[in-house]
Amino acid sequence: MINNCQHNTVLLHEAVNSLRIKPNGIYIDATFGSGGHAKLILSKLDKHGRLIVMDRDPLAIKIAHNILDNRCYIIYDNFSNMIKYVKQLNLLGHIDGVLLDLGISSIQLNDSNRGFSYMKNGPLDMRMNNKVGYTAGYWLSHAQYNDIYSVLYNLGEEYYAKYISKNICRFKKYNNIINTIDLSKIITRSYKSINKRSKKHPATKSFRAIRMFINQELEEIKLLLNYISYILSFKGILSIISFHSLEDRIIKNFMSPIATINSTNSFSIDQRSILKINKNKKFKFLKKIKPSLNEISNNRRSRSAILRIAQKIH
Ligand SMILES: C[S@@+](CC[C@H](N)C(=O)[O-])C[C@H]1O[C@@H](n2cnc3c(N)ncnc32)[C@H](O)[C@@H]1O
Repeated sequence: MINNCQHNTVLLHEAVNSLRIKPNGIYIDATFGSGGHAKLILSKLDKHGRLIVMDRDPLAIKIAHNILDNRCYIIYDNFSNMIKYVKQLNLLGHIDGVLLDLGISSIQLNDSNRGFSYMKNGPLDMRMNNKVGYTAGYWLSHAQYNDIYSVLYNLGEEYYAKYISKNICRFKKYNNIINTIDLSKIITRSYKSINKRSKKHPATKSFRAIRMFINQELEEIKLLLNYISYILSFKGILSIISFHSLEDRIIKNFMSPIATINSTNSFSIDQRSILKINKNKKFKFLKKIKPSLNEISNNRRSRSAILRIAQKIH
């Protein structure tokens, strides 16, 4: 039984139009979710067109099997492994467009059993693929102060990471952090103990940081960008929707003009590794699109979305 199937697709038409779909082309939607983008792509393909969809979440894959047609090839895996499948299908250099819509879907967020939301009590899981790897609760129970601090500070850009990490460590001396509400309470108390108020829920940044760590989200993007030029055809399009400044920075640097590689000394190690990659791949940045005010008012989740589009030119 598939519950919570409502996901409001972000930048639906903008993202699909950005792929400049040829009816007989071959496309990859690497973050299928509940298939909003995928269904629109399919509607633009003729009987010769092909769509490969991927997702690491078994529930998303179940949805894909329910709704898609025989022009569609479904892959249950991380998109960082895309090259393996494209090679198996003999399609290296023949893909006309790749779309990524990063982060989690509302289906994942709204299911309290998945542990992504501080608003709903449930097991502190946070794995996009809940069949492999360790849960956020397991990690927090075994991690040292420094590791927790580093995740909250670096991935969450959480200014109070020090207090929160200390309080997590204090709490776990006597109790297990099993549920989302345990963690949410520790973070909220940490804010209160230093008299800090925040416009957003105090747990917002920490929950997102832990989710990004558990799912190695930035690593996934870097791994894919590393070889995406081998996947795409000449003039193939790469369109990526991101929701977080750290993701967007990686994508922006990857798509930025090649000229910047001459002054690599002024870049961070992360940026340099991406620029080095870009040096060989030669993408041309086409456009950046943000959701309209109308979309934001209908779907609050879209407010931080940025779509960046690039074209392979060599
Ligand atoms: C924002 S949703 C995509 C929504 C989709 N575009 C739609 O219209 O329904 C992101 C999806 O990408 C999947 N995902 C995130 N990172 C992934 C990765 N590295 N590999 C494969 N799937 C991933 C998540 O499991 C989730 O289902």
